[in-house]
Amino acid sequence: MKRTIYFDNAATSWPKPVSVYRKMDEFIRKWGANPGRAGHRMAVGAERIIEETRYQIAQFFSIKDYRRIIFTLNCTDSLNIGIKGLLRKGDHVITTYLEHNSVSRPLEGLFKKGIITITRIHHSEDGFVDLEELRNAFTPKTRLVVVVHGSNVIGSLQPIREIGKISKEKGVIFMVDAAQTAGVIPIDVETDNIDLLAFPGHKALFGPPGTGGLYVGPRVDLEPWREGGSGVDSESELQPEELPFKLEGGTINTVGVAGLGAGITFIQKEGIEKIRQQEMELTKYLLEKLSGMREAIIYGPQNGKMRIGTVSFNIKDLNPAELGAVLDGSFGIACRTGLHCAPHTHKKLGTFPEGTVRFSLGYFNTKEEVDFAIDSLTQISA
Ligand SMILES: Cc1ncc(COP(=O)(O)O)c(C=O)c1O
Repeated sequence: MKRTIYFDNAATSWPKPVSVYRKMDEFIRKWGANPGRAGHRMAVGAERIIEETRYQIAQFFSIKDYRRIIFTLNCTDSLNIGIKGLLRKGDHVITTYLEHNSVSRPLEGLFKKGIITITRIHHSEDGFVDLEELRNAFTPKTRLVVVVHGSNVIGSLQPIREIGKISKEKGVIFMVDAAQTAGVIPIDVETDNIDLLAFPGHKALFGPPGTGGLYVGPRVDLEPWREGGSGVDSESELQPEELPFKLEGGTINTVGVAGLGAGITFIQKEGIEKIRQQEMELTKYLLEKLSGMREAIIYGPQNGKMRIGTVSFNIKDLNPAELGAVLDGSFGIACRTGLHCAPHTHKKLGTFPEGTVRFSLGYFNTKEEVDFAIDSLTQISA
């Protein structure tokens, strides 16, 4: 089989650390029972691993009360639980043009039903939101500010601490979509002033697909949309009020959560600073190489500090989807092309509707792979 160069880590990371595969295999064989639903040894063992992972995540994001972390299916699920659980008729929401559809669509759906109003803050050409515009966007009805931490199209990083501070001063809930940053950029919900933190387990945290989480801060009370078995208060007619049970009805992805725990352990052992440093170096290298290609048009910040390892570009006169197909079919390079579920961002970039080619680098990518990709692009464009 041809070798695969995997540059699609923004969609889901691959490969995972070997310890993740091992942990999942061990978990499903040994502890594959339903946690919290019975008192037998296997159920208790499964619950122990789930709760240890919850605790580990709390430490990872400096969350004081680990019960305020809800396990979800993915970041989309976390964002929907947060947005729809919070907003009520008449609420106003501030967001950006950089959001993924998993923020834009739930908001737009609520807007179309006449439930909320939305203000979108503009951003600079290289993808940084205008904080002055943000400050002026608050109204007495503003209930939520929701912002993507790292753009999944152009890789720009938003100053979430500053945005959280502004939101806090205005008494408004601040939600962060950390789909592209959880696991590579240190996040501290206290100092970053975050009330709701939505994160996937399957991207830079190295868990498997089907994992994610939502941190629900003490200023927030969310209505659950999913009610049912929780393993506690079974005599009650209604969903328990206690977290995490209130928002975690039904059996969770136990084997996935066990894998997620192993993914976070891997990050803690390697060190998030080392992971970030390596990503920044490789991204800088890719940007330099791409800049050296006359035919390449690069979008987003060129500065390594305020960006992540997601790089969008086009090659003059080549359609991004066709280019992606040739990179995959002839060179074994897996990347993503098109709109990346963020149509507003592409409209602002002027790349709608064809979109761009996106190389999203991960911890296991190498300079040699970048060299090979640049050679491949040079051959194709010639
Ligand atoms: C910025 C952003 N938000 C949300 C999501 C949704 O994440 P998930 O695939 O875990 O649902 C993605 C997915 O790529 C994303 O890039």
